Amino acid sequence: MSLILKDVGHEYESGRRLFAGIDLTLIPGRSYAVVGPSGAGKSTLLGVMAGDIHPAHGCVRRPDSSSANWVFQNPHGVAGRTALDHVALPFLARGHERPAAEEGAMSLLEEFGLEAVADEAFRYLSGGEAQRLMLARAIAAAPDLLFVDEPTAQLDLRTAHTVNDFLRRMAGRGCIVVIATHDAGTRDSCTDVVDLAAFQP
Ligand SMILES: Nc1ncnc2c1ncn2[C@@H]1O[C@H](COP(=O)(O)OP(=O)(O)OP(=O)(O)O)[C@@H](O)[C@H]1O
Ligand SMILES: [Mg+2]
Repeated sequence: MSLILKDVGHEYESGRRLFAGIDLTLIPGRSYAVVGPSGAGKSTLLGVMAGDIHPAHGCVRRPDSSSANWVFQNPHGVAGRTALDHVALPFLARGHERPAAEEGAMSLLEEFGLEAVADEAFRYLSGGEAQRLMLARAIAAAPDLLFVDEPTAQLDLRTAHTVNDFLRRMAGRGCIVVIATHDAGTRDSCTDVVDLAAFQP
């Protein structure tokens, strides 16, 4: 169930070569920080791993029947919906009845330190709470692959710290987590580091 990259490289049409010769085997239960300066191709590499971008060179083998989930830099929720609702929805979508869905959602909210705001509308959550909620929601969908792009870019240092603490818990859940980041704290929260500097063309 691993995600395998063989000699992967990419450039956009008429663009410069971003990275080359990436050989990697990503395995469930580990979290990978993809690091490198702005414009190095971190988001592009996540897109290649997710299968959204076809690499110009090499090949990517994803786990069979894999389900991928994304968490982006700006937490997008539904303003008037509660935190609990956001996390219950993926459980409902997977066929759980409402009480079981809410129970599953509540235990994830507790794990992410959000139990106190379970009944709060999304619009009232702080930046760090909203970002943690997006992570909890992504996990509720039980993905095999989880891609997180710059989860702390919009956050102040202290809030970023709490998000990093929770990112640390995401490894070991049996899914492959890949996080694009500039943040040293986020990098240190991952079990592995993929530095694009090592894959310069
Ligand atoms: N769809 C596209 N078509 C053409 N060029 C693109 C496309 N997407 C990204 N690029 C270019 O590819 C380069 C790498 O972009 P990418 O977003 O992967 O970098 P990044 O490392 O994630 O940067 P940042 O840290 O700023 O998010 C940039 O120069 C960008 O302008
Ligand atoms: Mg990016």
